[in-house]
Amino acid sequence: MAWYSEEQIEQVRQRSDIVEVIGNYVRLKRSGSGYVGLCPFHNEKSPSFSVSPARQMYKCFGCGVGGNVITFVMEYENYSFLEAMEYLAGRAGIELAQQEMTAEQKRQESLRAMLLEINTKAARFFYAILKSGQGKQAHDYLKQRGLLDETIVRFGLGYAGQGGDSLYRYLKQQGYQDSVLKETGLFKMDERGVYDKFWNRVIFPIMDINNHVIGFGGRVMGDGKPKYLNSPETKLFDKSRNLFGLNYARQGKRDYLILCEGYMDVIALHQAGFSSAVASLGTAFTELQANLMRRYTKEVLLTYDSDGAGQKAALRAIPILRRAGLNAKVVNMEPYKDPDEFIKGLGDSAFEERLKTAKNSFFFEAEVVRNTYDMTDPEQKTTFYHELAKKLLVFTDKVQRDNYLEAVAAKYTIRKEDLRELVIRYSNRMPEGYEQERPDRELKRSRKAEEAGIEYSYRLLLSWLIEDTSLYEPVSQLVAPEDFCEENYHIVASMLYEQLARGGVLPAKIINYFQDVEQQKMAAQMFQTNFQADMGTEEKEKALNELIIRIKEYSIDHQMRNLTDMEQLQRLILEKKQWQTPDKLHISLKDG
Ligand code: GTP
Ligand code: MN
Repeated sequence: MAWYSEEQIEQVRQRSDIVEVIGNYVRLKRSGSGYVGLCPFHNEKSPSFSVSPARQMYKCFGCGVGGNVITFVMEYENYSFLEAMEYLAGRAGIELAQQEMTAEQKRQESLRAMLLEINTKAARFFYAILKSGQGKQAHDYLKQRGLLDETIVRFGLGYAGQGGDSLYRYLKQQGYQDSVLKETGLFKMDERGVYDKFWNRVIFPIMDINNHVIGFGGRVMGDGKPKYLNSPETKLFDKSRNLFGLNYARQGKRDYLILCEGYMDVIALHQAGFSSAVASLGTAFTELQANLMRRYTKEVLLTYDSDGAGQKAALRAIPILRRAGLNAKVVNMEPYKDPDEFIKGLGDSAFEERLKTAKNSFFFEAEVVRNTYDMTDPEQKTTFYHELAKKLLVFTDKVQRDNYLEAVAAKYTIRKEDLRELVIRYSNRMPEGYEQERPDRELKRSRKAEEAGIEYSYRLLLSWLIEDTSLYEPVSQLVAPEDFCEENYHIVASMLYEQLARGGVLPAKIINYFQDVEQQKMAAQMFQTNFQADMGTEEKEKALNELIIRIKEYSIDHQMRNLTDMEQLQRLILEKKQWQTPDKLHISLKDG
């Protein structure tokens, strides 16, 4: 595997002018000191996509994407970071000498390669048993569940035989060391010996997007427990950043991906022609999986089980999808439990019909909230409207928010003007997506939500400093990089402060510090947070001062949590008191 030094990355970025590169994909028009065009990442009629030559950054005010020239190419072409580097280097005529791997990197690489090889051999082994006399019962089981032979082959399904150590012996014969086999997650090893982890189960190999087998799921045939057994996480198998079926679903351009709960759902859907179905790997849906999907589609149709647990899982997934910039819809599986059973019961065209009538995820969420209130009780009804107003805050685009506001106002019979007033009231208090974090309104302000809140504050302050560099002077007197208590924010803040102190801002360069795609996106996101554009100077000033106090207080709390020294604690308590008397500090925006 190749990797590049920070200098090389910076060289490629500097030699790839963002206006020129994006200009190849998007028709850009000059506007003020920058350029604008129609956003290539979402559908729009009037341009909200802007490119800044000074900052070497792009940003869409409609859908919120943003980043530097490297992230643009990654997003647009679905390239990995390395692919984007190679592409841009080639364009700029830069020879990229690959760095020598260290001995440790080489060792890790060869371990990975060996684990991949073993997984492939294991998958073939399970398949061979399925096809042999020993596998008859398993084969019958799959048949009885409606799978065709070609489906079994396509998904590489198999059978782990009657127990013991046959897979282990087979792989030992092939010359693998115990120390390597231990890392595969395929065996139980203890003082008494080594046993195959999977036995008497139908096997579902789990592949990454490049068709490499990275792990396995195994199902009992019948009612045993646990129903499914999955490989543990290994060097290859990261459950939070892979999706079952995505290797096939990614092929060809699709308007949407279908997100299901189970492997069997994915397989049944692909067999029925719905080849854009994927599932998470026996664990809850994650941000990383959402970002992965975002590479291939803009829209995700949720076909979670139609029971309470499925609904809960959908409510968890929706905000995650939304934050990844994906449009989510919920497909109704009633009266069946899941897509597999639905297709068996009502057939392909009925399923197709359900996909077409999938419910907008916001309406789905609103309906779930509504059902927890007794709308004949004026008190409860009022609370519901407040909840609805808070929910509407997830839309940062004004037009979009207005459209939703209008739709739900009509649906739940409240005057548009009244609902709008509530929304405005909450909009100055609540960070974006804040309520979404806690679908259960009874929950106490959890630590996680608090963190989401503080991260929002960090983003806001960073964005603000970039927007208006004259704020650096006064703000840096009050807030130090150390006051950003989350590591990534701390790194970004330190770099930005350094740039600001030297008198130039280059957010594009900061993003390059991170080589992991997700981290890059996160870093880019840090500069993308906007205040309500329609805020007046006075309101802005108040908001800025509140923001600084919030960050300071959090920082002090954070320090206090990790403190044992009484004297220091005293000092911090005093300091915190000071911050709670806000007129102590005042940054004025009036005269620039
Ligand atoms: P079938 O009964 O084979 O149709 O399964 P299903 O796809 O309807 O499964 P279900 O809705 O029960 O579960 C969905 C997914 O959750 C499965 O694909 C597994 O990944 C995971 N899962 C289910 N049961 C277990 C279990 O007992 N242990 C673990 N670790 N994961 C499970
Ligand atoms: Mn099922």
